[in-house]
Amino acid sequence: MIQHDVVIVGAGLAGMRCALEACRELDVAVLTKVYPSRSHSGAAQGGIAASLGNSEPDSWEEHMYDTIKGGDFLSDQDAVEEYVKAAPRVIYELEHMGCIFSRTPDGKIAQRSFGGHSKPRACFSADRTGHAILHALHEQLMKNAKSVKIYNEWYMHSLIVDGDRCNGVVVSNIQTGEVEVIQAKAVVFATGGYGRVFKITSNAFASTADGVMAAFEVGLPLEDPEFVQFHPSGLYRQGILFSEAARGEGAYLLNGNGERFMETYAPSRMELAPRDIVARAEQSEIDAGRGVDGENCINLDLRHLGKERIMERLPQIRQLGIDFLGIDCITDCLPIQPTAHYSMGGIPTDKFGHVISDENGTRVNGFFAAGECACVSVHGGNRLGTNSLLEAVVFGERAGKSVLEYAAGIDYGNVNEGQEKAKVLKKFEDVYQRDGSESYNDIRDEMKEIMMSHCGVFRDEEKLKVCIETLKGLQEKFKKGKVTDKGKLFNTEIYEVLELGNMLGMALLIATAALERKESRGGHFRTDFPKRDDANFLHHSMIFDTPDGLVIKKKSVVITKHQPAERTY
Ligand code: FUM
Repeated sequence: MIQHDVVIVGAGLAGMRCALEACRELDVAVLTKVYPSRSHSGAAQGGIAASLGNSEPDSWEEHMYDTIKGGDFLSDQDAVEEYVKAAPRVIYELEHMGCIFSRTPDGKIAQRSFGGHSKPRACFSADRTGHAILHALHEQLMKNAKSVKIYNEWYMHSLIVDGDRCNGVVVSNIQTGEVEVIQAKAVVFATGGYGRVFKITSNAFASTADGVMAAFEVGLPLEDPEFVQFHPSGLYRQGILFSEAARGEGAYLLNGNGERFMETYAPSRMELAPRDIVARAEQSEIDAGRGVDGENCINLDLRHLGKERIMERLPQIRQLGIDFLGIDCITDCLPIQPTAHYSMGGIPTDKFGHVISDENGTRVNGFFAAGECACVSVHGGNRLGTNSLLEAVVFGERAGKSVLEYAAGIDYGNVNEGQEKAKVLKKFEDVYQRDGSESYNDIRDEMKEIMMSHCGVFRDEEKLKVCIETLKGLQEKFKKGKVTDKGKLFNTEIYEVLELGNMLGMALLIATAALERKESRGGHFRTDFPKRDDANFLHHSMIFDTPDGLVIKKKSVVITKHQPAERTY
């Protein structure tokens, strides 16, 4: 059995920042199913928010209010306050770690505008901000290699829980297929989101709900799974992110008639309204037959920004347009559509990174979560752009500090290695042995299709019911699939099947919670209940697996400074 003081699952920004903190005193393992610098944090492009005030006077108070209003008043305000207050410090820390930020002419960290932020507060590295921070943190981990062991390309199968305490994880080495148990005093999940359940998504192939479903499988609830963010600018048909930074730099959205349609939907903020509002506006234009050339897309127009500005500030997205659509945004408009981008929900945690097991905030000893897989909840019903990199760094660090406090002076908990290994080996064996007639690829395609069409930007009761029934049917088919590769070495087919199982489970939780929330708030829009309903739904959803099926309980929203108000832009 492998032993480490702490095992962190996931090597994106949250996982690596947590590791840097915990390794000050502990022996740390970081386990990742991809190489760290390929983590999905690297896909974040436009910036990381902080009220530095380098372009215009700004304050944490304004950042706090924008975040809460952007989240449609579902954010826990105590967590938001600490998070926005920490932002300037963490930016300077990242700078001192070696992260290269773009600069103003007088040498300060440059800041650009982003949707829903009332001030330009996105610090950026051209349009590769996540990539720049990811590499800076990875370098720092390399520097601390004596106390951090990185398990590259290992897969986490399950949590080991004994009563109210978490004692480790069961994992396997993707290269060899060997299953191992890691015993740890503390486990941290920084496993990212689950955008791959949707057909059109900006998410990496790795964003398949492994962490959140491992937590759910040991009886923990998930919080607010119905809140999924659709980013307004995914490359048409591909879903690949085309950064909001384009609009932050001044790009327009045009419908098929060449009109800047945001005037109808958010006249004061136009293209820089929060993402939920812009994505709905786009989908409404498309549904009304005003897409471009009769297609399901609208145009993003950067041409007036000029070649020099595009090459300096947006070089990566220009290249993406050329590589994936053969379109150069210097001379032509880019077709875009809403793309599943971010999960506001996830494993419930308190603001210290401790995972909680119920609506009353009861902690699970030794289990922590940070980043997109966690629901703190600072983003409420809708996250503002650039607030996610900040969340990963702030709460990654916070979880690391909590782990240091927790693990000091405690011993390892009980682990029955043979029993834990046997459970996972059986799961593996079940998949290997299945000789059914169903195709896993078809099941995956059908799941993505139904989630997009029935549980996407616009939802209603009828569609959600169809979606749930379809997903249940797919779960049955899943049991009758067949893998063709029966080998152990680098058997990516079997891991894709395990990921699909997780995604089917997650999709069902999203749709079930969406059916239960009979109102519209943030990223969750019900055409049959188009208004926000604070009287009945100003609460977080906590979804549990019980012997009677899925049960949703209410968890109070923490409101400190800002009472819910009408959300206009
Ligand atoms: O559009 C973007 O650059 C994405 C940023 C984010 O999701 O925070």
